Amino acid sequence: MNRFGDRIQIRTDDVGGLPTATELLGDCTDGTAVYACGPAPLLTAIRSELVDRDNVELHFERFAAPPVVDGKEFTVSVASTGETVHVGADETLLSALNRAGVHASYSCQQGFCGTRRTRVLDGTAEHRDTLLTEPERDNGMMLICISRAAEGSHLTLDL
Ligand code: FES
Repeated sequence: MNRFGDRIQIRTDDVGGLPTATELLGDCTDGTAVYACGPAPLLTAIRSELVDRDNVELHFERFAAPPVVDGKEFTVSVASTGETVHVGADETLLSALNRAGVHASYSCQQGFCGTRRTRVLDGTAEHRDTLLTEPERDNGMMLICISRAAEGSHLTLDL
């Protein structure tokens, strides 16, 4: 750590309080690349602060799943047990399964690592990821951490 000198600052919330995006970004001159990872409210604040800064390059990674946008409730069946789980409009399929005690491992929860690749045995998925290829989708795969059932569809998953 010492080799980085004053180029690195450690700021803890218990000492400095919650920082604002302005405080975190400091004197962010044109040409700066900003790398941020953390909870969604922090990243939203930083993105908002930089919205008109075309000459600042922002890279970010959330620590949690993004909020569900325009979600509709649906139900899903777990093929191995026959259990049916209700998925609320504002929760992910993955979180509904975990809430119901159906173990489903995950990593990024954002649809880019591929950990939660799951086969749909019945029903139609509404794909919200940018990872799966069309052949994978055509072959019945979906990412349950971010994708949902198509409107009016009930899913049966190979879990
Ligand atoms: S957990 Fe990473 S793609 Fe779903």
